[in-house]
Amino acid sequence: MALIKAALLGFGTVGQGVYEALKTHREQLKAVLGEEVVIEGILVKDGSKQRDVDEHVLVTTDFEEILQIEGLQIVFEAIVGEEPGFTYLSKALEKGCHVITANKVMFARHGRTLLDKAEKLERFVGFEATTAGGTPIIRSIAQLLQVNEIHSVEAILNGTSNYILTNMREKGLPFQDVLKRAQELGYAEADPASDIEGHDAFFKLMILSELSFGETPEWKDVERKGITDVTSEQIAVFKDWGFKVKHLARIRRDRDQFISSVKPVLVDAAHPLYGVEDVQNAIMVETSLAGKVTVQGAGAGKLPTASAMVEDLTYVLQSNSTFARKKKIAPFAAGSLAEEADR
Ligand code: NDP
Ligand code: HSE
Repeated sequence: MALIKAALLGFGTVGQGVYEALKTHREQLKAVLGEEVVIEGILVKDGSKQRDVDEHVLVTTDFEEILQIEGLQIVFEAIVGEEPGFTYLSKALEKGCHVITANKVMFARHGRTLLDKAEKLERFVGFEATTAGGTPIIRSIAQLLQVNEIHSVEAILNGTSNYILTNMREKGLPFQDVLKRAQELGYAEADPASDIEGHDAFFKLMILSELSFGETPEWKDVERKGITDVTSEQIAVFKDWGFKVKHLARIRRDRDQFISSVKPVLVDAAHPLYGVEDVQNAIMVETSLAGKVTVQGAGAGKLPTASAMVEDLTYVLQSNSTFARKKKIAPFAAGSLAEEADR
């Protein structure tokens, strides 16, 4: 049987999840793709750590060695930060690979550039895992946009923050203890400040904005606040009154203007995102024809995120007609992600 050769950039929570999912779901993948997917190389930062992988797998700290893998078709990226992820994925596309990323910091800044490059090279960029973990929001929005217009997005986009707020309210646990647990569970970013100060949800909201509206607001104009100032005492009082604190990412386009924010908000039981708990994310999209559409699922973690990346893989390999691919991978209209000023 022919092999589909793939490489993994990063072997932390997400990279290991992809490796595991490709093994545990080998038969399903073979049935869908007609070929076996094999990880041939893994790029890491620290070459001295022991990695539990098959003997044939090249584990390296040198990206050029990954690019040299003969017949390499797919590059999964799950490393941290804007660089070197952007440079690596650009090179992988130039080499003729399809790329699939979970790296929302990188994608919020450089998604447009990568998608344009991929389109020219007739390659594919999968980015489902950048936003809301295993929740299939990217494909849902792309699907809705075939005909609908999107008016607004309201969402819980950071699993770690939602996990912390839920456990503070429902179990009375202290903020720092729950954050530590979120780190142990692999939900939090390498630098958890990104989660609890709202940066992570902000990047995801910008990705959804570009996808939904073909542009983003000026990044500096988006109100951004995390959950670090929310106290246990406040949460307890709000609970008595029947309210929850939710970290909401919201954007609405009103003619040429965006109204957008990422911040903690008090919600009551009538709010559609009131019941979204723990590491769950949910995204409510208001559309011109379908009305309000909500997608909910695990927003972080090893296997849910791997699920998004592996589903992207099946999508890319099945959408292999140029025309279909062009239409489907280019939901970003002429946009400005890469041009935004530094925050
Ligand atoms: P981890 O910190 O667990 O793992 C990061 C991996 O990347 C490690 O294997 C590390 O190598 C490697 N790495 C870091 N920098 C470099 C570099 N410069 N060159 C080569 N390898 C590097 O992170 P996660 O797996 O949690 O997250 C990975 C990406 O996925 C991030 O962009 C994150 O935002 C995103 N993401 C995470 C989710 C989650 O639930 N955790 C969900 C969705 C997206 P080494 O092992 O040697 O340290
Ligand atoms: N740290 C992120 C979160 C991971 O907690 O939502 C998923 O992108």
